[in-house]
Amino acid sequence: VAVGYLGVFGHVALDHILAVPRLPRRNTSIGVTARKVHFGGTAGNVARWAATLGVRTALAAFVGEDFPPEYRKALQACGVEVTDLRILPGTTTPVAWIFGEPRGDQMAVMDQGAVLRADDQPLQEHAVRESLIVHLMTGPPAYYRRVAALARELRRDVAVDPAQEIHYVYRGRDLADLLEGARFFFGNASEVGQALKFLRLRSVRALAARVPVLVRTLGSRGSEVYDRGARIAIPRVAPRKVVDATGAGDAYRAGFYAGLSRGHDLHDCGVLGAAAASFAIETVGTQTNIPTWEALRGRADRYLG
Ligand SMILES: Nc1ncnc2c1ncn2[C@@H]1O[C@H](COP(=O)(O)OP(=O)(O)OP(=O)(O)O)[C@@H](O)[C@H]1O
Ligand SMILES: [Mg+2]
Repeated sequence: VAVGYLGVFGHVALDHILAVPRLPRRNTSIGVTARKVHFGGTAGNVARWAATLGVRTALAAFVGEDFPPEYRKALQACGVEVTDLRILPGTTTPVAWIFGEPRGDQMAVMDQGAVLRADDQPLQEHAVRESLIVHLMTGPPAYYRRVAALARELRRDVAVDPAQEIHYVYRGRDLADLLEGARFFFGNASEVGQALKFLRLRSVRALAARVPVLVRTLGSRGSEVYDRGARIAIPRVAPRKVVDATGAGDAYRAGFYAGLSRGHDLHDCGVLGAAAASFAIETVGTQTNIPTWEALRGRADRYLG
């Protein structure tokens, strides 16, 4: 097998999206107005978007015996390589129940399921060996340290991207170890803020000095890429409509790699990320509304350098 481009480690999960008129008060209940199960999870999202955008992508994740075959088929249909999408017997697939009000306020409950059993599992080596970039997202930091060690040994580039789990799964030590020798760090404003606390750094610039490429997304304000400490501002790309911003960050990463794998510079990779995010925002669900590379290029065009 020829070497691929991207190996994505993180969650493959089911998102139960429940619309409620308002979030229930403690010790009360409320009826749902709509509900739907979406395929999601950080790694599932990034892998599906990246593969659809033409990036050769391998996925590594732990799921349970109840994993829907349709999800695997959907990944494969986009070209995601699923050798390391591993079902752990006796476990359940990670599930997120997300309750949302019309105004946009949310509450979520997460069952990690199979992911809690990752630590003593044999390494998902395929997704490291077959990739040039190993992208580490949500999931067990101790396990990812082993993955990062293999990646370093094989001279693969490592991207550190703990997303929301930097706040309640990672410890400072985990982040410091993973960043050692990493090429990329990705985070939104609050995730970068937590990284600064963990590393006892005073400024984003100080973090940018620790890793060759730092990508910080800033919601509707756009994003910035630090290239060996030099800041590149990336504007937001306007969506046709704003329906649900969940998953914008994952789409951004896929757009970024779609650019990088085709040899674009970091400014244009950021723009392609922002353009991908603008599509993600237009619909509910994190793997819906994925454009083709041509459609993404078209929307990004006037922002490209
Ligand atoms: N309202 C918006 N309009 C246009 N672009 C947006 C908007 N919100 C987000 N984006 C784009 O998506 C990118 C990622 O958004 P954000 O910083 O909110 O990520 P995030 O917090 O990781 O999101 P999530 O984890 O829900 O996917 C931004 O840098 C921006 O380019
Ligand atoms: Mg995010």
